[in-house]
Amino acid sequence: MDKMLQRTFVYGISVSGDNFTDRVRETNRLKMDFENGLNVVLISPRRMGKTSLVRRVQQEVDKNLIQTIYIDIYDCRSEYDFYNKLAIELMKQTASKMELVLENIKRFLVRLTPKISFTPDPTSDFSFSLGITPKDYAPEEILQLPELLAEQIGKHLVVCIDEFQQVAEWPDSLQVQKRMRGVWQHQQHVSYCIFGSRQQMMNRLFQDKKMPFYQFGEPNYLQPIPTEDWIPFIQQKFSQKNLTISAERVSEICSLVQNQSSYVQQLAWNVMLNTEDEVLEDSISQGVNDLLAQCTPLFMEQTGSLTSYQMNFMRAIANGIHKGFTTQEVLSTYNIGTKSNVSKLQKFLLEKDYIVSTTDGLFISDPVMQLWLQRK
Ligand SMILES: Nc1ncnc2c1ncn2[C@@H]1O[C@H](COP(=O)(O)OP(=O)(O)OP(=O)(O)O)[C@@H](O)[C@H]1O
Ligand SMILES: [Mg+2]
Repeated sequence: MDKMLQRTFVYGISVSGDNFTDRVRETNRLKMDFENGLNVVLISPRRMGKTSLVRRVQQEVDKNLIQTIYIDIYDCRSEYDFYNKLAIELMKQTASKMELVLENIKRFLVRLTPKISFTPDPTSDFSFSLGITPKDYAPEEILQLPELLAEQIGKHLVVCIDEFQQVAEWPDSLQVQKRMRGVWQHQQHVSYCIFGSRQQMMNRLFQDKKMPFYQFGEPNYLQPIPTEDWIPFIQQKFSQKNLTISAERVSEICSLVQNQSSYVQQLAWNVMLNTEDEVLEDSISQGVNDLLAQCTPLFMEQTGSLTSYQMNFMRAIANGIHKGFTTQEVLSTYNIGTKSNVSKLQKFLLEKDYIVSTTDGLFISDPVMQLWLQRK
């Protein structure tokens, strides 16, 4: 018997199955990109659903044609951390059994002796470390591994790399990026799907002409899930609990959090907990209060180290000022210092991903932080 807890709304982790709304267009698009061997750079604000989407596409691609690999490099602190992870995951995810993994290591990484440890947990059978150092292998040799493996398995390989912005933090980052790009762009049987949660950094790595990864892949901006798709999704979850919610109330939930996927689910769950039979205005406002209470510790921590000018600048944006910060009126109403201060404030907050810049001006990145700043 499957004793897995059936959660009604899921947020904060990548979602699949019943917790994933269709995203049909995006799924098909990415699937086509994978099946046609295109490099993709997937960009979106935080918690919009990048990881979930890539995981979904991995399940849906034609497995006779392509093999996908998923790597999260959030914990990689250096170039060789990454090479170790890349090699391990390539070996693991292209072979079904441990014997085959070992065979591949012997074949492709002859200079290494892997350390294997068996875990008592029957679901994840074993783990191993390779301990690759510059003495064993040059960067280019590891970067070329996907191509060699693809040739061996006779399929096109798609390497999906999550939290890719980590690369920018490594020592000698620019050099490393050049090496990666240099090797990857010549590979015939491998393509890459690259994404990460720091939008500003991802933009810088891929959209800046001076950067090695400029125009590496097709930029793919993941849009929010539209309200009309959230309506049936959320209504169904409510009706499973014998509760009702009107389409208008669902729209309200969506617009309160600007359709940011994770918050839509979190707020819907809060609203559900405040509902007896039917969702009323009150359940929504109570849900929002709970959401703010849940997020406050994090926002306090994030904004705790900001100077008062930086904080005031955020407040101005949250209160509807998106342009014209250097006018005397805005400068003095919000107390953000002198004219010359503004571009410094802006640069700092953009870099931190606290604000985003659009054609309409500056906005608070996190829709709930926006609400929080307004209410404070
Ligand atoms: N297709 C979807 N249908 C329903 N909810 C979704 C969908 N995609 C994402 N979500 C919601 O958003 C949350 C975050 O999803 P996910 O981790 O995939 O986003 P992400 O963009 O990778 O986030 P991060 O920027 O933190 O890496 C999920 O836990 C879920 O609540
Ligand atoms: Mg993610």
